[in-house]
Amino acid sequence: MGRTIKIFDTTLRDGEQSPGCSMNLNEKLEVAKELEALHVDIIEAGFAISSPGDAAAISAIAETVRGCSVCSLSRCNEADIDAAWEAIRHAAAPRIHTFIATSPVHMEYKLKMTEAQVLESVAHHVAYAKKYCPDVEFSAEDATRSDMNFLCRVFEAAIRAGATTLNIPDTVGYTTPDEYAALIRYLREHTPGIENVTLSCHMHNDLGMAVANSLAGVMAGVDQIECTINGIGERAGNASLEECAMALNTRRDFYGMDCNIDTKQIYHASRMIQTITGVAVAPTKPIIGANAFAHEAGIHQHGVLANKQTYEIMTPESVGIPKNAIVLGKHSGRHAFEERLIELGYSLDSEALNKAFEKFKILADKKKVVKDRDLEALVGAVPVTGTEKFALENFVINTGNTITTTAVIRVKKGEESAERVAAYNGPIEAAFHAINKIVGREITLKDYSLKAMTDGEDAQAEAIVKICFDGDEDEMVTGRGVSTDVIEASIKAYINGINKYFNN
Ligand code: KIV
Ligand code: ZN
Repeated sequence: MGRTIKIFDTTLRDGEQSPGCSMNLNEKLEVAKELEALHVDIIEAGFAISSPGDAAAISAIAETVRGCSVCSLSRCNEADIDAAWEAIRHAAAPRIHTFIATSPVHMEYKLKMTEAQVLESVAHHVAYAKKYCPDVEFSAEDATRSDMNFLCRVFEAAIRAGATTLNIPDTVGYTTPDEYAALIRYLREHTPGIENVTLSCHMHNDLGMAVANSLAGVMAGVDQIECTINGIGERAGNASLEECAMALNTRRDFYGMDCNIDTKQIYHASRMIQTITGVAVAPTKPIIGANAFAHEAGIHQHGVLANKQTYEIMTPESVGIPKNAIVLGKHSGRHAFEERLIELGYSLDSEALNKAFEKFKILADKKKVVKDRDLEALVGAVPVTGTEKFALENFVINTGNTITTTAVIRVKKGEESAERVAAYNGPIEAAFHAINKIVGREITLKDYSLKAMTDGEDAQAEAIVKICFDGDEDEMVTGRGVSTDVIEASIKAYINGINKYFNN
């Protein structure tokens, strides 16, 4: 029996830090539940000191998730560690993750600290975190550009102060597999006490080597991989969870190691992150891209038909991509509907199921067949918590290529209805401006995308908007709307974003 590699998921911290990937509390909670279902070992739920919203989300996750550790990031600084502990203290298995940079360039220009000061800070702050929590992870930021001997002294200090996990991050995605493996071997040979702690890797993907570097790390003795769903993260992203897990799984013959990930949940987790963030993965993305299991070339198709193993090293089912066996339509009953949702990885409570079934019946009236992607579109979004402030009642658009477009939008606003008209260049712009008049705030559209969820003329369109209020681009909100009508999908997405903003 080989080693079992721990999977430390940082989608909600490093992933959420990447532009356009921010999530609200309710969405983070849904993601955390999905990570628990995926059987990750540790969820890094956020960076508590960074904002009250982050702290609240970490607390909510710590109180909800019972099946794995919940961790908050903190710099080597007492206020950060206090905030981290406050946020995770109710977790079933809390972990404090504290870090400081150790590379010459970071110490001189960012921290303005000497090596001796960094060493002292590590010893003091790891011991400070340890007073709160038995499980303390210490990271040497920019480890791969740090002096190896200094790194050994830093890690020795962290071990003496009580760290249980030592993370060796490639913060800027600079290292290579061979170089990283050599670094791990060096640290293992030259750091007293290192055999008593868990070693961890945390790789960024700037040179496209994050997954390869992570796997080189485990081959050299690392027992924990830090990664994110879909590889989201700062700049070019982090090591992708699905790629690391499936590499260990598919090449067990080579690596001889396991991880606890329930690979059948991968597709669902990936779709959830794409839906919530509005950041789609490329069709060629390994494991979960639209083309990952598609065989276009005739020679490949011929081979796959004869024997799947000719061109398939893993099956779509092993990562939870559903077989399109059942097609639903307007005569399908509630039972078949529910069964299919379960097969797709959704478990809805009875109220959510009732609402989804109502929407399904309306859709099934418009479309001959309802496919899996239609169902995902129906139930994929995390509902806005609390009362939705605004709801679309109806709209009329008058447009053409020789006239100014006008939009009349009627929206339910609490108990009342409000109707406004706006004239603009195109239907989407006109509709959004009419809604702005109803909401009475300066709302700016920063990004807009529209794509067909299924094929055929009666496809459902998914619109994603990214909006900000009063020019504050740091607080970007993602809204999503789905309809067989592209304008309705866009209006719904805009209103969904507005409701999320007011319920944050
Ligand atoms: O990339 C990095 O170094 C980090 C640390 C905070 C672990 O995200
Ligand atoms: Zn990172």
